[in-house]
Amino acid sequence: MVTTKAVIPVAGMGTRFLPATKALPKEMLPLVDKPVIQYVVEEAVAAGLSDLLLITGRNKNALENHFDRVAELEQALEAKGDSGRLFQVQESSQLADIHYTRQGDPRGLGHAVLRAKSHVGDNSFAVLLGDDVIDSRDYILERMLQVHEESGDNVIALMQVPKSQISLYGCAAVGFQHAPDVYQVSNLVEKPAADSAPSDLAVIGRYVLNSEIFSILEKTQPGRGGEIQLTDALEYAAANPDVAGGVRGVVFSGRRYDTGDKLDFIKATLRIAVDRDDIGSELRSWLKDFAKDL
Ligand code: G1P
Repeated sequence: MVTTKAVIPVAGMGTRFLPATKALPKEMLPLVDKPVIQYVVEEAVAAGLSDLLLITGRNKNALENHFDRVAELEQALEAKGDSGRLFQVQESSQLADIHYTRQGDPRGLGHAVLRAKSHVGDNSFAVLLGDDVIDSRDYILERMLQVHEESGDNVIALMQVPKSQISLYGCAAVGFQHAPDVYQVSNLVEKPAADSAPSDLAVIGRYVLNSEIFSILEKTQPGRGGEIQLTDALEYAAANPDVAGGVRGVVFSGRRYDTGDKLDFIKATLRIAVDRDDIGSELRSWLKDFAKDL
């Protein structure tokens, strides 16, 4: 069956970006002129997913407003004949069928995903983490959906990182290589210490899951940080493939930004901005001058 649903957890507090995120959801911070969440939604839509569920929390109303129509603004732009901006304003409200549910207690990523159970039903579904932005030139979700359709396994995206950074991520040990970019996952650990990590393969925020993962999540005990971890549910799936299917990892080697991290956020802004038609060439020459003085 073709996967059409995506779940996008966006309930996190954004503490790394305080004070900017005191009143503004971190997913509304703009990369150039589009909020982070729109890049993530566009990626889901580009992979053919049309039914999106955002798992939100308190103070996240701006996200719903962003994907809604704003009649007064559209009328004002229309009256001015500003068709370019009118298109941009309308585009975000026409991207997909977007639904919202609240997480309630912030009990971890696994708990956030579990909130999607009734919306998802018996379908397989994708999960895209709301502050992981994959550059549109390097999208991987379509490939992951293809691997899922062919194998029936759960599929996660993996990226090689320096061992010193593995403690920031879920970490996967892999076994059989199914294709140049696809491995069977044999073991998963959430945020291991560098010296006990089973590999240098980090789980990045893209998943394609079977609906049976919900019954595993319901039984998953709080893990790292006292939270219910999606990584732990996937670890169970990898060890018990008869319950919810096994786990395959697709290795990603493109451009990915953790927009919850200040330095990565600035790098993402620059990477995107230098390729923009409107400001790219001016920014490039300014950056060259600027770099001379560093
Ligand atoms: C979450 C997951 C982790 C994954 C990471 C990717 O952690 O729990 O396994 O590697 O996203 O960004 P978080 O960054 O929300 O702490």
